[in-house]
Parts: sequence; structure tokens; C-alpha cells
Amino acid sequence: MVTGAGGALGTDLVRELTASGERFRAFVRADLDITDAGAVEAAVGDWAGGVDEPAVLLNAAAFTAVDLAETDADAARAAHAVNADAPGLLAAACARHGARLVHVSTDYVFDGSGPEGRPGAGYEPDDRTGARSVYGRTKELGEQRVRDALDAHHVVRTAWVYGDTGSNFVAAMVRLAGQRDTLDVVDDQHGSPTWSADLAAGLVALGRSDAPFGTLHATGGGATTWCGFARAVFAELGADPERVHGCSTDQFPRPAPRPAWSVLSPAAWTAAGLAPLPDWRDALHTAVERHPELLSR
Ligand SMILES: NC(=O)c1ccc[n+]([C@@H]2O[C@H](COP(=O)([O-])OP(=O)(O)OC[C@H]3O[C@@H](n4cnc5c(N)ncnc54)[C@H](OP(=O)(O)O)[C@@H]3O)[C@@H](O)[C@H]2O)c1
Repeated sequence: MVTGAGGALGTDLVRELTASGERFRAFVRADLDITDAGAVEAAVGDWAGGVDEPAVLLNAAAFTAVDLAETDADAARAAHAVNADAPGLLAAACARHGARLVHVSTDYVFDGSGPEGRPGAGYEPDDRTGARSVYGRTKELGEQRVRDALDAHHVVRTAWVYGDTGSNFVAAMVRLAGQRDTLDVVDDQHGSPTWSADLAAGLVALGRSDAPFGTLHATGGGATTWCGFARAVFAELGADPERVHGCSTDQFPRPAPRPAWSVLSPAAWTAAGLAPLPDWRDALHTAVERHPELLSR
């Protein structure tokens, strides 16, 4: 069962489950608002009661307007309801009906200064969190609600996700490449671009696995900066990557603070027997091959 099926990740979860012949039910927001406790209880109960094996709920629903949550009180309340409270509702319903939950979280739960005492290393799942944004704090709370309500859970933190639907960094760079001669892009934030199709495949594999319950990290392999990511998009376009100039975060202030270090270690993921997600650069090339429209939006 998939919630948030209309989003970037949700769309690819549906594709992945369809392609693998899995029996599943997917809910877009109009069909299931995950903040509605009664609707969640009915949907999970209905699905879990109708399958022989333990049902697996993949939650891809989230409030993801990071800057709006920082500046607008109504948006912050909505972010809290969707990202903090609703995962608790989903987890409690799973606990009542014997279902497992795969809940997706984010690098924004970390403060971005890097793992303590391991400079240059990726964050491990048990490294100290400390979100610096409203969005990050709501996601951090959501993780905790899941852990509190349900043993049979996987919290999977990811980062820098793009797909072939909706607005994302790749689409923004493609648009700007057509509008400007040169472009300044932040070169002091580090992370791992993650193609939503690769993440979806990983999450479905996780849902089918006997990986120990707990928190895991899953992003594209390797790491770069936003500037490096933008240059790779330009290269895929056949445009000169040198048109992209590096700038600092200070030169490009945003309402919500961004983690400077978002690199997440895949060690726990692979130790659980799961295949690492492909390297981010290879994944971008594959994404463009499979969805040429990515470069013309
Ligand atoms: N995108 C990234 O860079 C990134 C990075 C790290 C982690 N993540 C995490 O990855 C997961 C998937 O994100 P995404 O990139 O696929 O985001 P997305 O494209 O914004 O999709 C989120 C989906 O959740 C839906 N939704 C919002 N409120 C809901 C509610 N109350 N009930 C049911 N559905 C609701 C949205 O519907 P509407 O569009 O109708 O609001 C949207 O379809 C999230 O947990 C996010 O926090 C994303």
C-alpha cells in the first residue's frame, strides 16, 4: 500500500510495483489524506485484512515546501500535521493491523555540520540529529512518532530527490540553461542526488526483505555539490558545464537553512543485505535516457 502516490517518489513507487507484478493499492492525496485518523485506520485495516502476508505500507506522502514552512504559519502547521503527526497515525494503524511501515525521511533531520568526529564521512543512521528548519524538525518528529508506535518499521532517510514529474532541481537547471548565459549555483553544500526511480526500487526491495527494523539511509551513490549537480545537468543537455559558476550559500540566502553536509552513509543499508543505489552521475544519465522529456521541460 502506497500513500502520497501522486508525488515524485510515489509516482515511481507505483511504476515499480506495477512493473514487478505486485498486488498493491496506491492512494493519492485526494483518496487518502494521511492526517485523517479515521480514513487512515479504515484504509490500513481494509488493505491489511485483505492480504495473506503482512501488509507493507510505503509512506511517500509529505509536506515538502521547505521555505514556505519556514515563513508561513499555516504552512508550518500543515507541515507538522503531515510530517510529524500523520506518520504516527500510519504507524499506529499498522501496529493495530499487523502491517509493516516503510516511512521516508530526510537529510534535513541533521544540522549539516557533518557526523561528530568523522569529518568528510557520511552520516550514519544513529548519528545525532538536530534539524535546523521547520520542515526538518517536523520530519524528525515524524520519525520519532513512527518509532514510538510501531516496532515493525523502517525509517529511510534520503536526500536531493528528483524524478520526471513535478518541480525539482533538474527541471530548474534545464529551464535556467535555456534562459541565461551563465548561472551561479551553490558550491558549498554537499550531498548525493537521488533519482526517485532508483529510490523506489530500493524501497520496494526493502519492503520485501527481512532487513532488521530500524533507520536506514538510501541516496544515490557518491556525492557532489549543487554546482556539481548543475554542471552534470548541463553536460546531459550538451551545454557547456563551465556556464555554471560556483557560489557560496551566503550569496544565495533562502528562508529555510540548508544542511551544508547532507551526505548519508549507505553502510547500514548494504549491511542489511540491500543493493546500494547506483552512483548519482550514472543515475542522472539513465534518468535522461529513460525520460528524454526531463531535458525539455
Ligand atoms: N524531494 C526531495 O529532495 C527529498 C529529499 C529528502 C527527503 N524527501 C522525502 O521523500 C518523500 C517523498 O518526497 P517527494 O520528493 O516525492 O515529495 P512530493 O513530490 O512533494 O510528494 C509528496 C506527496 O505527498 C502528498 N501529500 C501532501 N500532504 C498529504 C496528505 N495530507 N495526505 C496524503 N498525501 C499528502 C502530496 O500531495 P499534493 O501535491 O497534493 O500536496 C504529494 O503528492 C518525503 O517523505 C520527503 O520528505 C524528499
